Amino acid sequence: MNVVRLGIVGLGNMGAIHADSVLAGKIRGLKLAAVCDNNASRLGRYQGISRFASADAMIAAGVIDAILIATPHYYHVPIGAAALRAGMHVLVEKPISVHKADGERLVAAHQGRRQVFAAMFNQRTDPLYQKIRAIIQGGELGEVRRINWIITDWFRTEAYYASGGWRATWAGEGGGILLNQCPHNLDLLQWIFGQPQRVRAFCRFGRYHDIEVEDDVTAYMEFSNGASGVLITSTGEAPGTNRLEITAEGGRVVCEDSRILLTRNAVPMSEFSRKASQAFARPETTVSSIAFPDHGGQHNEVLQNFADAILDDRPLIAPAAEGLRSVELANAMLLSTWLHKTVELPLDGVAFAGMLEQQIKNSRFIKKTVSTATNEDFTKSFGR
Ligand SMILES: NC(=O)c1ccc[n+]([C@@H]2O[C@H](COP(=O)([O-])OP(=O)(O)OC[C@H]3O[C@@H](n4cnc5c(N)ncnc54)[C@H](O)[C@@H]3O)[C@@H](O)[C@H]2O)c1
Repeated sequence: MNVVRLGIVGLGNMGAIHADSVLAGKIRGLKLAAVCDNNASRLGRYQGISRFASADAMIAAGVIDAILIATPHYYHVPIGAAALRAGMHVLVEKPISVHKADGERLVAAHQGRRQVFAAMFNQRTDPLYQKIRAIIQGGELGEVRRINWIITDWFRTEAYYASGGWRATWAGEGGGILLNQCPHNLDLLQWIFGQPQRVRAFCRFGRYHDIEVEDDVTAYMEFSNGASGVLITSTGEAPGTNRLEITAEGGRVVCEDSRILLTRNAVPMSEFSRKASQAFARPETTVSSIAFPDHGGQHNEVLQNFADAILDDRPLIAPAAEGLRSVELANAMLLSTWLHKTVELPLDGVAFAGMLEQQIKNSRFIKKTVSTATNEDFTKSFGR
């Protein structure tokens, strides 16, 4: 094979952008062979390309080798699992699933390494996050002690939430900022620092918007080496902040405004504390600053990587199975809020699915504006 015949399912905000990139020839080795959307009005502009109203029909037609899933999240699992079982390569949008148990069903359908199964974690292509990961995992600052990430620049208006019937409802989306915007940050968090061991979170539901799910989260995390972390995120604050601060034995990293400010301690802080004879002494420091004006290839780089993995056996930027961790973290933050207690990881995915199902059953929320997207019965997502 020297060209991958790609089918895209879901041609809304994100799917249409992916389709345009492939149609514009921006991705070597990918050809847009089919498109699918259950809203017929979304298909009209793709003249000359096989068009389908259902993913099952597109998968069965024999016209594609690979599928990109850009539907609302709950559909990622049934469509992804069907495509994997049919032997296709799969690229799934984030989050890979709404909840952990569902994500595990998706990952279980993966048939092995020759079948490429990737997730669209485009922020992994940002040189700034790659640099932070290299600093932390390369060990040049020693043990991490504290992580603070304020990521409140995901501002969204009421019009955004009203733009889709599925958005910001338990039945249609399964959560709010933790499921839609923040999966990128939760993925980067675990990609750089590893998965926390326990989480205590305070989600506020509809704090800033007329929605039933969380649009404001403060989460405290503990990691296996004793490091602690706080993540604060919201879609309601303008102008918002994106500031990641890492305290490690060997110094501090502050990442804000596309810049990393790296302060190195001449002596690791605990060692200095033990050895210093003066009560208020501090280690000598050196400071360097690196600007990152370029944020990498983002979505198109992940698309290119997907094609390269299929055609040339290149390693994936984001294997889909790794997407389970950000789903687990998001689920843990919701569960901790609902139970008013600290949640240990690994999370009990079945218990979480049960609680989410209760939220759906108990919901009395009525969306004021509903788009043409269908609302389906998602009970299969709970393994029934
Ligand atoms: N990686 C990113 O940066 C990024 C950015 C935006 C959205 N996303 C993800 O992309 C997905 C879609 O988000 P969006 O904002 O494009 O949503 P959207 O509502 O704009 O588009 C979804 C599309 O899917 C179609 N659809 C719904 N159910 C379908 C089904 N069963 N079969 C076929 N088509 C179906 C809808 O008709 C609609 O056209 C979400 O999972 C979201 O998290 C990722």
